[in-house]
Amino acid sequence: MCGIVGYVGAGQAVDFLIHGLHRLEYRGYDSAGVAVIGQDGQIHVVKTAGRIAALEELLAKQPLTGRIGIGHTRWATHGPATDANAHPHLGGNGAVAVVHNGVIENYESLRARLEAEGYRFRSATDTEAIAHLIAEAVRTATGNGKGPAPLDELIQAVQAALAQLQGTYGLAMLFRDWPDLILAARRGSPLIIGVGQKEHFVSSDPSSLIGYTDKIVALADHELAVLTADGVRVVHRDHGHINPSVQVLDWSAAEVSRGGYPHYMLKEIFEQPESIRNTMRGRLDWDEATARFGGLNLSPQELRRVRRIVFTGCGTSWHAGLVGEYLIETLARLPVEVEYASELRYRNPPLENDTLLFAITQSGETADTLAALREMKRKGLPTLAICNVVGSSIAAEADGGVYLHAGPEIGVASTKAYTCQCTVLVLLALYFGRLRHLGFDDGLRILEHLQQLPDRVSDALQTSPQVREIAEKYASSEHFLYLGRHFNFPTALEGALKMKEISYIHAEGYPAAEMKHGPIALVDRQTPSVFLMPQGAVYDKVLSNLQEIKARGGPVIAVVCRGDRKAAQLADDVIEIPAVPEFLQPIVSVVPLQLLAYYTAVARGCDVDKPRNLAKSVTVE
Ligand code: M6R
Repeated sequence: MCGIVGYVGAGQAVDFLIHGLHRLEYRGYDSAGVAVIGQDGQIHVVKTAGRIAALEELLAKQPLTGRIGIGHTRWATHGPATDANAHPHLGGNGAVAVVHNGVIENYESLRARLEAEGYRFRSATDTEAIAHLIAEAVRTATGNGKGPAPLDELIQAVQAALAQLQGTYGLAMLFRDWPDLILAARRGSPLIIGVGQKEHFVSSDPSSLIGYTDKIVALADHELAVLTADGVRVVHRDHGHINPSVQVLDWSAAEVSRGGYPHYMLKEIFEQPESIRNTMRGRLDWDEATARFGGLNLSPQELRRVRRIVFTGCGTSWHAGLVGEYLIETLARLPVEVEYASELRYRNPPLENDTLLFAITQSGETADTLAALREMKRKGLPTLAICNVVGSSIAAEADGGVYLHAGPEIGVASTKAYTCQCTVLVLLALYFGRLRHLGFDDGLRILEHLQQLPDRVSDALQTSPQVREIAEKYASSEHFLYLGRHFNFPTALEGALKMKEISYIHAEGYPAAEMKHGPIALVDRQTPSVFLMPQGAVYDKVLSNLQEIKARGGPVIAVVCRGDRKAAQLADDVIEIPAVPEFLQPIVSVVPLQLLAYYTAVARGCDVDKPRNLAKSVTVE
């Protein structure tokens, strides 16, 4: 939610700022702006409602030159998407410029106080209160305008201002009186520092740094970084100066380009065979017929004592948790609960000592998931993360975990991260199963199927042209139903979520047998039902559910195993996918649903990679 960039070095700041904002546009895209300190020593701001392209047009008319600057792409929280509400915001008559990601909960009282003291607000944002607050603190620290104070005093003044904020922030700040430095501070919203040769960068995520530097420092909560062309200093609120740990980013420029595809989402859908291969790389243990993990940080003895697993996450990651429930219960015979992170954080459920929590998240920054993880940690549970982004907040705060290695996921609709999450969950189910009752031969059989999984997903991708035709046929529908049972019930939920988030068609996912308890009233000739019915234990039951829909005139799109004649005779449209064991069906059968959502959105002229009202990484509660 909201993208932040900053640059200080020998280059023109705007060049990196615009490049970085384009890469971060998926985080929010309703307005954008940049601030640069020019040769006249003043902070100059150019900002506008709309996309980065609108900002570029403005910059072509009002060029900004300078070697230090900050930029922002916005996902509105306080105040609509207008020029005035776009960031950066100035404080103290242009002494300070601020870009912000997060939500300041006490901004109304701060604003009232600052206005009473004579500060004039030009926007409806919470961020402008931060800008004035910092300007006020700095002005007081420097003896009310008697010239710049030493850097340590600036840091203390900013820390004092930040201490007055309730809520979350990732901030980058410019100061007219310190024209050679950027301050970056975080509490609850991600910030990454890029370390270059005589230049330094700040960004809300590493993707904007690719091509500029592969050395990053992930700021932790309550840390403040001072960036100059020559170096980075990090100061912690309670521990003072600390040595930043520099990590190396292994994302390539190719991974963050569209690589010839019209949209990131389509590229990421087609990357799935490779990303699943990467998720499994080095984790198939043929000697022990199990899975191998490097970062669980719990011994087999400790894991054997686990009696209950809780999966938590949001959106698509929560759906992966549901898949995990079926997998772990089936393969490892362990009780599992799946909790929405936004509920778990406040629900205070009774939890036994032998419970293990997994937070599932692509970004590692989802505010609710992070809060749920912290709450469970506070209660003393061991916490693990299943996460894609290395160095993200959740990866850093969990006791251990498993990285997806899916590569950067840029499309707002999660696709490859989901199938990689499900792949990790199969590996975990195998691992926990082998710690308990699952025999060596069973373990080997699962490994053999896993090894073939990327090819099966490639096969499922071959449905693309046919799915496109089906999508175009039903693109004017106002409602879709997605129905599946057992392992394919979470897939129904995920298919419906994909459809609604990018095509804006109302879509509902249900366990197929639940239809007759109410939702079947929705069935009419204009409402297609997508049935997930690859062969398996409940195939015949789902076939009966399909007939119930047909009997009421509802069109049916059936996702079936190749060669399924029964379903083909009944359904209006059939999508054939390769047969895999039931525990791998969620990974294969979701592929045509991702494509169906994608082609439907394209047919309706929707902005697939930047759907309305959404952002990739939801760092507000
Ligand atoms: O980064 P996370 O996996 O924690 O994100 C969770 C959800 O916000 C995310 O899955 C969201 O539902 C996607 N837009 C779904 O495509």
